[in-house]
This record gives sequence, C-alpha cells and structure tokens, in this order.
Amino acid sequence: MRERSLIIVKPDAMAKGLAGTIIGRLQGLGLKLVALKMLRLDKAKARQHYAVHEGKPFFDSVVDYISSAPVVAAVLEGEEAIDVIRKAMGPTDPTRAEKSTIRGEFGLDIEKNAIHGSDSPETAAREIALFFTEDEILDY
Ligand code: CMP
Repeated sequence: MRERSLIIVKPDAMAKGLAGTIIGRLQGLGLKLVALKMLRLDKAKARQHYAVHEGKPFFDSVVDYISSAPVVAAVLEGEEAIDVIRKAMGPTDPTRAEKSTIRGEFGLDIEKNAIHGSDSPETAAREIALFFTEDEILDY
C-alpha cells in the first residue's frame, strides 16, 4: 500500500550536519520526498507531536529535547513507507540497533537517536498534519 510517513531529523543529527545524509538514505530506498521544512518546535507543538507519550517518565525530557534546536521535518511517500522507514531507522535505542541502520550508525542514546519516524498510518496522518498544510505536500 502506498503510504506517507513523517520523519524528523533530530537535534543531535542536525548538529552533525546529517539532514541531507539521512533524507538521502531514505530516498535511496525508493521513497519520494514530497514535503520538507526546517523549523524549531516550540514546547506546545512538541507536546502535541509526542502526545501519545504524555504521562510517561520520559515525556518532559523528550519534549525539551526536540524543541532544543532546529530540526528538519519531511514527508516521504512510497509503498509501505512507514515500515520501510522504521526498518531503515532501526530500534528506538541506538545501542540495540544494527550499525547498518540510521540510529545504529548516527544515534547516541535513546533520546538523541537521530531520527523520528511515524509508527502507523494513523500516527502518520496526525503527525503530517501537525507539520505541513495540504498545499505544502507536493505531487510530482
Ligand atoms: P521517537 O521515535 O521520536 O518517539 C518518542 C521518543 O521518546 C523516542 O523516539 C525516544 O527518542 C524518546 N525516548 C526517551 N526515552 C524513551 C524510552 N524509555 N522509551 C521510548 N522512547 C524514549
């Protein structure tokens, strides 16, 4: 099934100049870049983005972290895009990730884990709408 997923290049990867590398790696898997922007999330938007984690012990910390510096957000589209991206990212904790995955190669710890990607079609729709208007998602 053709899907869209939201990815965020997190502050640790931005600091290392990896936005192009990470997005390029996903494009190299056949995914199409259909929306892209660089922004600094405020706390309210960060809380909305991570709303499913509200109440968990790491919630405040992950909200502070994602809003601590500019990030790059993108929408990638393709067959089974959500799963393709999740496999390419590797598990949430980089110390458990294969070196061949984005988090395994570039992530530092469970919070500074280089990239966020949507985990289901429902989450993707919600996350994409939080970052992009319909006319910022381009058909080509
Ligand atoms: P992400 O895919 O952006 O979604 C939620 C984020 O919370 C996750 O990546 C991690 O970076 C961060 N996080 C911090 N601690 C934990 C934890 N114990 N379990 C899951 N996610 C965590």
